Amino acid sequence: MPASQSDGQRKPAIVILDFGSQYSELIARRVRETEVYSLVQSFRTSARELRELSPKGIILSGGPNSVYADGAPLCDPEIWNLGIPVLGVCYGMQLMVHQLGGQVELATGKAEYGKAPLHVDDPTALLTNVANESTMWMSHGDSVNRLPEHFVRLAHTSNSPEAAIADHSRKLYGVQFHPEVIHSTHGMVMIRNFVYHICGCEANWTTTAFIDEAIAQVRDQVGDKRVLLALSGGVDSSTLAFLLHRAIGDQLTCMFIDQGFMRKGEPEFLMDFFDKEFHINVVYINARERFIEKLCAITDPEEKRKIIGNEFIRVFEEESIRLGPFDYLAQGTLYPDVIESAATNVDPKKGERVAVKIKSHHNVGGLPKDLQFKLVEPLRRLFKDEVRKLGRSLGLPEEIVRRHPFPGPGLAIRILGEVTNQKLNCLRDADLIVREEIRNAGLYHDVWQAFAVLLPVCSVGVMGDQRTYAWPIVLRCVSSEDGMTADWSRLPHEVLECISNRIVNEVKEVNRVVFDITSKPPGTIEWE
Ligand code: XMP
Repeated sequence: MPASQSDGQRKPAIVILDFGSQYSELIARRVRETEVYSLVQSFRTSARELRELSPKGIILSGGPNSVYADGAPLCDPEIWNLGIPVLGVCYGMQLMVHQLGGQVELATGKAEYGKAPLHVDDPTALLTNVANESTMWMSHGDSVNRLPEHFVRLAHTSNSPEAAIADHSRKLYGVQFHPEVIHSTHGMVMIRNFVYHICGCEANWTTTAFIDEAIAQVRDQVGDKRVLLALSGGVDSSTLAFLLHRAIGDQLTCMFIDQGFMRKGEPEFLMDFFDKEFHINVVYINARERFIEKLCAITDPEEKRKIIGNEFIRVFEEESIRLGPFDYLAQGTLYPDVIESAATNVDPKKGERVAVKIKSHHNVGGLPKDLQFKLVEPLRRLFKDEVRKLGRSLGLPEEIVRRHPFPGPGLAIRILGEVTNQKLNCLRDADLIVREEIRNAGLYHDVWQAFAVLLPVCSVGVMGDQRTYAWPIVLRCVSSEDGMTADWSRLPHEVLECISNRIVNEVKEVNRVVFDITSKPPGTIEWE
């Protein structure tokens, strides 16, 4: 049974079978937005396994293959006989047609990409309240050209005669377009029709329900044992700390390792907030000297990351022994990690399952594998936006909930070349000015990240009558959806001016500010 379904007590109301679409996760998120619990499973999930899960509906995702391709991912044909409503999206619809005796036409250069107005032929069931001529997002090569027996057309577009189809009696539905993407203006109406009216789901995937379930589950798992959590101050570990504190109170110990690479005021803020205000047991470990010593004379960015990661593990091991013993380690694993490690994705060329590489270096100091802990991972069913909602509802301030992403190795990777205390102090001051001015301009929540980078070169400047020879600060500010691609933010000139003036006036070692106008790709967001 895939890893993603054995951990939660609650069974999914909707199962999404993943045929390798980049949108499979998005379908699950959209279904959850309707307060219906959904999980993504491999396309290999058998009809027997599905019967055991007993979802109220199944959605077949899109995928990059043609149903006729060698090794194209197929679903268990018994799925059609389960009596459970099915919605096939794009490849999922073509598969439905193919396996039920209709015909799919191979792409003949008539591929259809982008927005298309949908002409509704049957405004009932799936298409109830979906406006005629509403925009739907198309992205397909192959298309359906003969429907299986008992199927009828629900809608068409100028390029797709069978854009939406149904076998009403068996509650089988297919759409050639992608209702899950934002460009499909009535996509959510359709998803609601499917989950509520066709599958009869109830709206019960709510934050309150999740909190109750998670607390009961954690108490059940942990009993009266002690749990250790490495707190970083990011939204995941902070939300986890709040949730666990509610579930098991003082059985939770949070360890906050200060590597010396956090932003100005952050360690103090964290300790004040968690320890003093909320009485969550946080042990502050000042490891600043250890880390900076290890980085002496190191200039290679990968080497820096490795050294910081290893040192983090060493400190964590020593301190967990000193503070322990602990039976459990709490980790903020999220659902996308679980889906990725379940490796349900499909290689577009071979149609085989391939493992998706997890961004290991993005985890805060990736913890040692051989430590003798059992894991507590109550967030492993949640998407990032659900974690934010949860954090908010548990009482976390917006400052943490909507904090910009911050790399685990912190400012150490935003100082190019060797890291020293002098450079760290300088960058901290410049970084604070950037944050303050972006906030003052009301832009903090409009941008993905805004930060300062310190370059280890000197250039000539003039201040008063004095010639200066000092470092430049790079201002990096980007907009992005997910950090995978990004564009530089077109900040107003007045904001740029203010940031630049303040930095050169207030940060002694800096005499120049430059603005990075590179998108990703080809640049990365961080400078390292
Ligand atoms: P790049 O620089 O690769 O960054 O374009 C993409 C996003 O990932 C963040 N990032 C990290 N996040 N630990 C993290 O939690 C890390 O080690 C790390 N390195 C990069 C980066 O800030 C950006 O948002």
